[in-house]
Amino acid sequence: MVPVVLFHSDTLDVNMEEQSLYVRIGGQSTIDVLVEQFYELVFSNEQIQHLFNTDKEVIKSKQRLFLSQFLGGPMAYSDVYGHPRMRARHMPHPITETDAIAWLHCMSQAIATLPISEELKDELFSRFPSTALFMVNTPSPSES
Ligand code: HEM
Repeated sequence: MVPVVLFHSDTLDVNMEEQSLYVRIGGQSTIDVLVEQFYELVFSNEQIQHLFNTDKEVIKSKQRLFLSQFLGGPMAYSDVYGHPRMRARHMPHPITETDAIAWLHCMSQAIATLPISEELKDELFSRFPSTALFMVNTPSPSES
């Protein structure tokens, strides 16, 4: 009997670990709230607001779809727009390291408003810094 019981509990542990961050933060409804909070901050941020010149509702919609798959949920962005190629899609926009830090600051503030545990907030935020820095495609004015 003992091995069977152990096997059962091992399986449960594995299932817990395999749940995506998308599911653990509460799925699409949490992402929708996050995107609203985030762009309210971005569109009023003095450092980066000038970069966002197209339809703000379209930008939010794309981010809702993208974050779904970025966090392990449905491949919603790719289903509509194809391969994300995020760095290439950001190339038309001159993004400096200072811009990336401002973007991350907005994301951190938006995450702080979510009704999830502090551990989940930390885990969620940790997904963004390397990707945001990867989008940097322009030297800061002092470097050029
Ligand atoms: C590093 C700082 C970043 C800046 C300054 C920035 C800025 C921008 C800008 C200017 C656009 C185009 C908006 C428009 O159409 O007018 C855009 C699009 C987008 N960004 Fe970022 N971005 C950054 C990082 C990120 C990161 C880290 C992610 C994802 C984790 C992301 C996801 C997206 C998505 C999904 C789109 C829509 C792409 C499309 O289909 O056209 N961005 N971003």
